[in-house]
Amino acid sequence: MDVYEAVTSRRAVRGFKDQPVSRAVLERVLSAAAWSPSGSNIQPWNIYVLTGAPLAELKTNAVERVAHGDPWDKRQYKMYPSELKSPYAERRSAFGKERYSALGIAREDWEARQRAAIANWNCFGAPAALFCYIDRDLGRPQWADVGMYLQTIMLLLRAEGLHSCTQMAWSQVRETVAEVLSPPDGLILFCGMSIGYEDPAASFPRTGRAPLAETVTFVGD
Ligand SMILES: Cc1cc2nc3c(=O)[nH]c(=O)nc-3n(C[C@H](O)[C@H](O)[C@H](O)COP(=O)(O)O)c2cc1C
Repeated sequence: MDVYEAVTSRRAVRGFKDQPVSRAVLERVLSAAAWSPSGSNIQPWNIYVLTGAPLAELKTNAVERVAHGDPWDKRQYKMYPSELKSPYAERRSAFGKERYSALGIAREDWEARQRAAIANWNCFGAPAALFCYIDRDLGRPQWADVGMYLQTIMLLLRAEGLHSCTQMAWSQVRETVAEVLSPPDGLILFCGMSIGYEDPAASFPRTGRAPLAETVTFVGD
C-alpha cells in the first residue's frame, strides 16, 4: 500500500470484527511508528496497548459506568474551547449531522445519541486498543508531536489491513482507564485508539473535508 492509499483509506472506523489482532503486528506497527518526528527528538508519547482480558475488563467497567449515568472525570485538558468559533463550529455541527443521519438518529433524540456514544467505551467492538498519555508538564509543541505519532500509527495500521478510531471519549473516564493501567502520576490521558479489522456491515459514508482553498494558502508559483 502506498502512502496516498494509506492516507485516503484511513477513516475513523466505528465497527470492528472480533478477529484478534496479533501481538506481532502491533509490535511491528509501534516499532515503525517510533520513527515519528518530535521536537529535539524528545518522543513525548507514552503508550499502553490493551488486548484480551484486561481490555475486556476495561470495556465492561467503562460501559457500565457510562450506562449508569456517572459524571465524567474532572477534565485534565479541554477537548474544545467553550466557544468554538467560525468556521470550526460549522464544521463540527456538519460532522454531527453527517454522523447521526448515517446512524438514522434524529439530532434532537438525545437518548439515541447517548446509546450511540456508549459504543465508544466498548471500543466499537475492537479487540485491541491503545491509550496515549502525555506528561502534564509538556506543552503545545509536544502535544503536536503526539498527534503526528498517532497519525503515523494509524497509517501503518492501514498497511497491515487494520483500521482504527482515535477517541478522546476515553479521557472522560480516565480514572476507569487508570484503574486498569496504573499509569505513573503526572501523565495525562490524551486519548484511546480502538484497533481492529473493520466490520463492513457497520461502515458508513466517509466524512467530508473543507475545500483546499479554505485551509491552504499558496504563496508564489
Ligand atoms: C484526537 C481525536 C479524537 C477523536 N475522538 C473521537 C471520539 O471520542 N469518538 C469518536 O467516535 N471519534 C473520535 N474521533 C474521530 C473524528 O470524529 C474523525 O477523525 C473526524 O470526524 C474525521 O473523520 P475521519 O477520521 O473518518 O476521516 C477523534 C479523532 C481525533 C483525531
